[in-house]
Amino acid sequence: MFNIVMQHIHGKARLSFFLAPLIMLGEVFCDLQQPTLMSKIIDQGLAKGDLNFVIQHALLMLMFAILGLIFGGSCGALGSFASLKMGESLRSHLLRVSLNDRQPKTLSPATLITRITNDVTQMQNLVMIVTRGLVRSPMLLFGGVVMSIIICPDLAPILGVIMPILIIFLIIVVRKSIPKYTKMQQSVDTVNKVMRENLQGAKTIKSYVLENHQLHQFTQQNHNLQQKSQSAALATVILSPVIQLMLNFGVIIAIGYGGSLAISNTISDGQIIAFVNYMIQITNAMIQTVNIITAFSRAITSSTRVQAVLDLAKTEVIENETVKIPSGSGIEFEKVSFGYAEGEPILDDLNFQVKDGQWLGIIGETGSGKSSVINLLTRKYDQYQGEIKIGGIDIQKLSLEDVHKKVAVALQDSLLFSGNILSNLTYGDSTATQESINQASIVSMSKEFIQKLPEKFQTDVEQAGKNFSGGQRQRLNIARSLVPNPDILVLDDATSAVDQSTNAKIKQRLEKLRHNKTTIIISQRVTNIMDCDQIIVLKNGRLISQGTHQELLKQSDFYRQLVKTQMGDVNFGHA
Ligand SMILES: Nc1ncnc2c1ncn2[C@@H]1O[C@H](COP(=O)(O)OP(=O)(O)OP(=O)(O)O)[C@@H](O)[C@H]1O
Ligand SMILES: [Mg+2]
Repeated sequence: MFNIVMQHIHGKARLSFFLAPLIMLGEVFCDLQQPTLMSKIIDQGLAKGDLNFVIQHALLMLMFAILGLIFGGSCGALGSFASLKMGESLRSHLLRVSLNDRQPKTLSPATLITRITNDVTQMQNLVMIVTRGLVRSPMLLFGGVVMSIIICPDLAPILGVIMPILIIFLIIVVRKSIPKYTKMQQSVDTVNKVMRENLQGAKTIKSYVLENHQLHQFTQQNHNLQQKSQSAALATVILSPVIQLMLNFGVIIAIGYGGSLAISNTISDGQIIAFVNYMIQITNAMIQTVNIITAFSRAITSSTRVQAVLDLAKTEVIENETVKIPSGSGIEFEKVSFGYAEGEPILDDLNFQVKDGQWLGIIGETGSGKSSVINLLTRKYDQYQGEIKIGGIDIQKLSLEDVHKKVAVALQDSLLFSGNILSNLTYGDSTATQESINQASIVSMSKEFIQKLPEKFQTDVEQAGKNFSGGQRQRLNIARSLVPNPDILVLDDATSAVDQSTNAKIKQRLEKLRHNKTTIIISQRVTNIMDCDQIIVLKNGRLISQGTHQELLKQSDFYRQLVKTQMGDVNFGHA
């Protein structure tokens, strides 16, 4: 935990983090002066009727109070600054790691969100409390004990009995509470997950009239969270009253026993009052220690969860950026086999080549591995056998960034981001010219509907592009992939929601770029891929046929059957 915190407190924040506890020493010193001064006022001022002494010492008390306030305030401000800066840095680090995670299945988005928000807040709280309390509490405790022994050694045995009992009690409570906080954070994850599903699937839920069912599910998880939080809080909430109770016992004994000693003139009234005040300070310090321990329990749980996210970065394959980006854009798959999980092959011994500027069509049943081919080409997964080359160079030798510069992919369900149309189109290339944006929107048939919007390219895009139709979203996706003018363009079912005539026009316009863009079109529709220079047919991850439309009509029963179901017998005239 300390590693994580220290790695994310830099510069001025680090200075504040270390300076705050030092300043706190000042406040502790001031606080510790008060009971002694009070005892002096009673014993040496009031008892002897020396008004000057009383006023002098009362002014001293006031000065220490003001100084304490200044020290305390400065310490609080520095602590907050360190804590906020730590949170900011840790959050952006976590987000970067999460976005770079190449196997995002390990941690779900719901738990990532909780970890980046709630768990980091717990760690921030700890930094805040630690800068103030980690010095204050032990110093007040230690200082209080020492001062009370010095000022009134006769009453010190009271502390000798109370303190060990309280310390044992504290240890027991802390050991019980940590696992409870872990469970509580897990519940936060579940509530977050259910809420995300509900909000994202709101349309589906309404169309199936499942509102009550979903609400019930959410209420259950919410209730579960409430119980887990309650149980965790109960474990620590009992501490303060118990400490208070022990203090009150201590005060009663101090006054009772101290009173009898005062009557026999062994100790003075001022000593009893000072001792009681030190006991109150010691108790406050213990209550603060409880808060620190609670914050620690929560932060330890949270830091373990945050560490799990940070560990994702360690599973990153080290990149061998040994080779510069190739100029060619031909693609080769040589004996490529792959599975997402071990022992479950998805792609089996794939071999094919696409020359510079050629069009490749990939067709096959759903789940046959078409998108998996693209996942490998864009280096989403590196654990495959065989070799994949772009421009004659093994993609494992290229950096991820270079691969992504070379290959742009428009997926069936690529997300649009909140912002406006322009910010979405320039997402992959912030330096894009107006000309390339315009060109991309024309080719993708987006310009037609963008022009009709009152604010044109400045039109707002809501979260996930909800204010556009499925077909419009897909057209914007295609435009976005075209803006950086990639050498290799992949359209993975990217026009499935676009109507037939618009689809045909997009294809015609893409055809015009044909000479300088290697293009892969993945589609269930034969009409989308029949003009490609080469078509491969996948079945259960195996390449079962390869050739042009005409060749496949001759060679492949599977392809012929597809053509027949989709286009009728009329096309067999070509064969
Ligand atoms: N991230 C993943 N983790 C585990 N298995 C996956 C993952 N993505 C796909 N699969 C599995 O791999 C197989 C091939 O999936 P893929 O997405 O490549 O099919 P596809 O041919 O693109 O299908 P569709 O036409 O429906 O898009 C499927 O059985 C699928 O369940
Ligand atoms: Mg797919």
